[in-house]
Amino acid sequence: MESNEIRNKFLKFFESRGHKIIPSASLVPEGDISVLFTTAGMQQFKEYYSAPLNAIRDFGAKNVVTVQKCIRTGDIDEVGDATHLSFFEMLGNFSFGGYGRQEAITYAYEFITHELGLTISFVTIYKGEGIVPKDEESRNIWKDIDSNLDIREDGADVFWGPTGNSGPCGPTTEIYCKNANGEDVEIWNIVFNEYFCDGSREKLDKGEAKLSKLETLGIDTGMGFERLLAIAEGKKNVYDTDVFNSENTREDRIIADHIKASLFIISDGVIPGNTGRGYVLRRLIRRAVRFSKEPLANKIETIKNLYKGIYNLDDEKEIEKEEKKFRETLEHGMKEFEKGHDAFTLFTTYGFPLELTLELAKEKGIEIDVEDFNKKIAEHQKLSQTASVGMFKGGLANHNEQTIRLHTAHHLLLAALQTIINKDIKQRGSNITEERLRMDFLCDHKLTDEEKKKVEDWVNEKIKLGLNVVRREMPLIEAQKLGAEMEFGAKYPDVVSVYFIGDSPKSDLGANAKEKKSLSPTSGNHVSIEFCGGPHVKNTRELSEFKIQKEEAVAAGIRRIKAVLV
Ligand code: SER
Repeated sequence: MESNEIRNKFLKFFESRGHKIIPSASLVPEGDISVLFTTAGMQQFKEYYSAPLNAIRDFGAKNVVTVQKCIRTGDIDEVGDATHLSFFEMLGNFSFGGYGRQEAITYAYEFITHELGLTISFVTIYKGEGIVPKDEESRNIWKDIDSNLDIREDGADVFWGPTGNSGPCGPTTEIYCKNANGEDVEIWNIVFNEYFCDGSREKLDKGEAKLSKLETLGIDTGMGFERLLAIAEGKKNVYDTDVFNSENTREDRIIADHIKASLFIISDGVIPGNTGRGYVLRRLIRRAVRFSKEPLANKIETIKNLYKGIYNLDDEKEIEKEEKKFRETLEHGMKEFEKGHDAFTLFTTYGFPLELTLELAKEKGIEIDVEDFNKKIAEHQKLSQTASVGMFKGGLANHNEQTIRLHTAHHLLLAALQTIINKDIKQRGSNITEERLRMDFLCDHKLTDEEKKKVEDWVNEKIKLGLNVVRREMPLIEAQKLGAEMEFGAKYPDVVSVYFIGDSPKSDLGANAKEKKSLSPTSGNHVSIEFCGGPHVKNTRELSEFKIQKEEAVAAGIRRIKAVLV
């Protein structure tokens, strides 16, 4: 069975059982700033477990189904074995008060056995701990379905979540199937979100976080797509499935996995850097370079082709730029490493990152004094700190004047899309560099040339009007009343920063009376109101002409616009 057939089969199976199909969220979580990447299908739905009615408001449904892009780099050292990947897709069905254990387990059983024709080798249930009881209900449901089924009890491994600093969590039941090597592989995790945890998972495990019962039982299931594919296609490991190119050696598998993860991360707006997401990306690219004697270009092309028509992977130039820089570093650094320099010298003088030194040392059985490295680095950083203060304020990659202009144009573009295409259009990702802005948004069709022209004209008209851009701090409730554009799923403090283009309600500056009349009647005196930390230009006339460079699909139901100021 081909991968795309299984993706579709899954979506259709749940659609015909009352689930709304929702597009994959970006790999950069929009709401939950406490996690670097989207690691599970449920992340974009976190808020709905505590507020299930919002699901009806936002999706018109209590039950949804997705194929979600995910990144997990916690097990990066295991990538290259039969099952571990840093990028993978997760198939999941979710319910916010629509159904409970009985349906969730029955659906999973039917999908695995009837739709895919696979045999379940065993399932697990939670054995209970603290205020969470043993999951007898799930055991009984499984027993009723198949009285011969091997049902095993397990502990912490079958209690899931929360992601990030707090959130829904609960006991799970997992489904295992045998792969072509005869090994049992966990393929489906069905979580019963019955609790809210006020701290991270780490804190919960240490007894430093509290669980409270959620009002409504929520369902969150996740099936690792590549693992499932391997089993459905009768393959011995994930690299032999049709989302890879039959990579045979550990090195080739690592290279393929890391390039794939990098392409997907870049396509969601991250560029290589020294902190946070940018650093994870840099590390993936550098590891791929280290394992690959050949330039990465061919492999990048192969991976892009594997996903043609399903995901749009672009901007591979970022990988090539990083590759070029790092190959030079690697060449010098390797020579120095062989000579026996310490980790600190390798880092400061030859740009050799610590984790690379550690990896190489491990391969050669050499010990590295990490404490000594950290001490020297701390001293070194004190000296160079002043140079970098202020570099990472706000969310923009670089605060030069052009990025600030593009940021304001970005607000105008969203308002234009809502005015011209559909008032319900929501942003689902953004990225601004010195050269261009990029916005991903929910939209069910490709924009026509006429629509694109109208959007451009609308933005350019607002630029010419010379509208003031004003920032106000106001109570969250007031901003919501004004209909300010919020980031999807984000949690905001009681007082928020809001940017008004056109005019702000408390200000008489800005467009003159005649111009004001021509502005959108639905938003009062302003063409755009967004929750935003800035920075922005003071007046739209500081922008030059706005031009859409490209409009394309990134995933089902998500379009992407790249635009410039010329
Ligand atoms: N959140 C659970 C997981 O990631 C099930 O979707 O495994």
